[in-house]
Amino acid sequence: MSIQKRLVGSYVVVIFLTVLILEIFLIASVRFYYLHNVERILINQAELSASFFQQYFAEEDLESQSERLLKGFVYNSDAQVQIITASGQLLQDSNGYERSMGSISMVEYPDVQVAMTGTPGVWRGKDPLTHEPVLAVSYPLKKYEADVTLGEVRFATSLTTTLHTVKQITLILILVGLLVLAIVTLLGMLLSWTITRSIKDLKQAADRMTEGDFDIRVRKRYQDELGSLADTLNMMAARILKTEQLKNDFISSISHELRTPLTSIKGWVITLKANGKDNQLLMEEGLDIIESESERLTHLVDELLDFSKLDNGRITLQLSPVHLQALLQQMGKQLGPRADRQGLALEIQVDEQIPPIQADVNRLKQVLINLLDNSFKHTDPGGLILVSAHMKQGQALIRVKDTGSGIAEDKLAHVLHQFYKADQHAAGSGLGLAISDRIIRLHRGELRISSTVGEGTTVDIILPVENQRNLTIS
Ligand SMILES: Nc1ncnc2c1ncn2[C@@H]1O[C@H](COP(=O)(O)OP(=O)(O)OP(=O)(O)O)[C@@H](O)[C@H]1O
Ligand SMILES: [Mg+2]
Repeated sequence: MSIQKRLVGSYVVVIFLTVLILEIFLIASVRFYYLHNVERILINQAELSASFFQQYFAEEDLESQSERLLKGFVYNSDAQVQIITASGQLLQDSNGYERSMGSISMVEYPDVQVAMTGTPGVWRGKDPLTHEPVLAVSYPLKKYEADVTLGEVRFATSLTTTLHTVKQITLILILVGLLVLAIVTLLGMLLSWTITRSIKDLKQAADRMTEGDFDIRVRKRYQDELGSLADTLNMMAARILKTEQLKNDFISSISHELRTPLTSIKGWVITLKANGKDNQLLMEEGLDIIESESERLTHLVDELLDFSKLDNGRITLQLSPVHLQALLQQMGKQLGPRADRQGLALEIQVDEQIPPIQADVNRLKQVLINLLDNSFKHTDPGGLILVSAHMKQGQALIRVKDTGSGIAEDKLAHVLHQFYKADQHAAGSGLGLAISDRIIRLHRGELRISSTVGEGTTVDIILPVENQRNLTIS
C-alpha cells in the first residue's frame, strides 16, 4: 500500500470516527431535547389543570361539571385534552365525543393506568386508531388535601411534526458530516500528495544515482525532514562526484609519477646498452640512477598499498611501549643530513617527564617521516623545523612545526583527504597526510593541522598514553 493511501486512509478513519461519535451524540441530544420539550409542556399543562381542579372543582361531582372543566383545560393548549373517570371511562374529549355513542374505556393506555393509581403517568407510543406517534400525559384529579383520585385529565399530542423536525435536523447533521468527511479526504489527499511528491523525487533521484548518474540533484521542495534528506542526498552525490574527480586526478598524477622514473630508467638502459660496455664510469652512474629511481617507484607503490590496506581496515597495530625521547632524537639524527643539504635548521625538544606511550613504533615513525617530509618540501632554505613532545591534559602531544609556505585556509580542510594536493603539479601522491591521519586514528589519537600562509604550518599528533592492544580501524 502506498504512503499516500496510508496517510489519507488514516486521516479519513480518524475523522470518520470523530464525526460519527459527534453525530451520534448530537442527533441523540436533538431528539431528546425536542421530545423532552413537548413532554414538559404537556406535564406543565396537566399539572396546572390538576391543581386548578383541586382548588375550584374538587367538591363537586366530576361528571356534571366535566364539560365546563374541559373548556377551562383546553384554554391555552393545542393538545388533545381528555377527562376520564376514576374507573378509566372517557368523560370528555376536546376532539369531540358524545356519551350517547357508548362508553369508551381508556384503561388500555399505560399513562392512564399509572394515573389511576394516583401518580402522574407519561406514555409515548403509537395511537391505536390513527397509528400516529403520540405523547400522552395523564394526571390524577384529586380532592383537596385528601388522597382520593376522582378522575384523570389526559393531555395527548401527536409527535408527527416534532419527529419530522428531528428527522430533518438529523439529515442536515449527516450531510454536514459527509461534507466534513469529503473535505478532509480532499485535504488529506492534497497534504499527502505534498509529502509523497517529495518522496517520489527522492526515489527517482536515488534510482538515477544507482545507475551511476551523480550529476542529478533532487529538488528541495520544503524545509522539512524530506528537504534535509534531499540536501543529504545531493551532498552525497556531490561528494561521490568529488571523490571520482579526485580518483581521476590521482590516476593521472600517479601515471605521471610513475612515468618520470620509468622514462629515466628506460633512457639509461638504452644508453648503457649502447655505450655501457666500454665506459665503466657511465655504467656506474647509470646503475646508480636506475637504483634510486626504482627505489622511488617502490616507495610510491608501497604507499599506495599501505593506503588501500588502511582504507580497508586490514591493518593491525603492533603496540609496544615507545619512548618518545629516544624515537624523536633518532629521527633527528636520521634527517639531519637532509636538513643540512636544504639549509634548514631541524630542532628536537622533548619534555623529559613524558612517560612511554603504547604505540606501533614503525607506524609512528612513518607518520613523523610523512610530516617532516612535508615540512622539508614546503620550507625554503634558512627556515626552521621544530619537533617537540610534551604531556597535555593526560595525553602525549607531538608537534611538528615549520616556518614554511603554509596552507591557504580553503585548502586546509582538504589536506587530510586522500590524493589531495594543494598544488596539482607538485611532486607527491597526496596520500601522506591521509595515511598519517588514519594511522593516528587507529591509535585512538587525533591529527590536527593549523597553518598560516607565509608563516608556516603546525601539525599536532595527540596520542593517549594508555592504549589497548591490537587496535584495528573500525
Ligand atoms: N608543512 C606543509 N607546508 C605546506 N603545505 C603542506 C604541508 N604539509 C602538507 N601540505 C600540503 O598538503 C598537501 C597534502 O599533503 P600530503 O602529505 O598528504 O601529500 P603530498 O606530500 O603531496 O604527497 P605524499 O606525502 O604522498 O608524497 C600537500 O600537497 C601540500 O600542498
Ligand atoms: Mg607528504
